[in-house]
Amino acid sequence: MTQTRIHNLSISLDGFATGEGQALDAPMGHAGMRLAGWMFATRFGAPILERSGGTAGVDDAFAQQNEPGIGAEIMGAGKFGPPGWQDDPDWKGWWGANPPFHTPTFVLTHRPRPSIGMEGGTTFHFLDATAVEALDAASAAAEGRDIRIGGGATVVRQFLAAGLVDHMHLVQVPIVLGRGVRVWDGLEGLEADYDIEAVSAPSGVTHLTFDRKTA
Ligand SMILES: NC(=O)c1ccc[n+]([C@@H]2O[C@H](COP(=O)([O-])OP(=O)(O)OC[C@H]3O[C@@H](n4cnc5c(N)ncnc54)[C@H](OP(=O)(O)O)[C@@H]3O)[C@@H](O)[C@H]2O)c1
Repeated sequence: MTQTRIHNLSISLDGFATGEGQALDAPMGHAGMRLAGWMFATRFGAPILERSGGTAGVDDAFAQQNEPGIGAEIMGAGKFGPPGWQDDPDWKGWWGANPPFHTPTFVLTHRPRPSIGMEGGTTFHFLDATAVEALDAASAAAEGRDIRIGGGATVVRQFLAAGLVDHMHLVQVPIVLGRGVRVWDGLEGLEADYDIEAVSAPSGVTHLTFDRKTA
């Protein structure tokens, strides 16, 4: 049975998964590096910033779960590029010629464009579709493997609201952002549907796992 999974979703204490003012020189707005800093410090995350080394402890063990068994990713237009990227016909995402997805990757946008094949096995497909329709398309492309919902907050909220997420790894970062895009709005009582565990890491973040309860 394939699963729909979320990994390494970093949120502030007040529930924001990105800051206000996303821009080309500020992918996470005023949050800067504060939300994802824990991940870039790990062996998993350091290469994403073209750094070597990284920690190999609790944070890395969780972060590494992002990859195994994934056959396709679904992300939002807000993760794929800064506001207005749809006006740039040459925009191919933040990640350079060889993006770190290595699978079919479905970008939800109200302004779709033709698919783009990248180095390393990533193909970006652009969809104006409901969460259920996007999951169907990603499942068809995933060759029996799991689907990752890659964010951002708006897309995660949509898939949680539709009851489509089987596993979620959330990382609560001890910062108060005050503004940005929140994950939890409209999801009151979500915890009733999941078995939840929490682990505190020496770095100061708390890893929470949500696994859908079996009937
Ligand atoms: N904290 C983390 O772990 C984490 C993880 C990933 C990303 N991020 C950050 O989160 C931010 C992006 O999050 P976000 O909430 O602003 O945006 P998002 O969830 O990435 O994308 C939302 C946008 O996607 C399009 N969209 C969403 N659902 C759609 C649907 N069903 N059909 C068609 N289009 C749809 C719409 O854009 P249009 O109407 O413009 O097409 C919508 O405004 C970025 O700053 C990114 O760096 C954080």
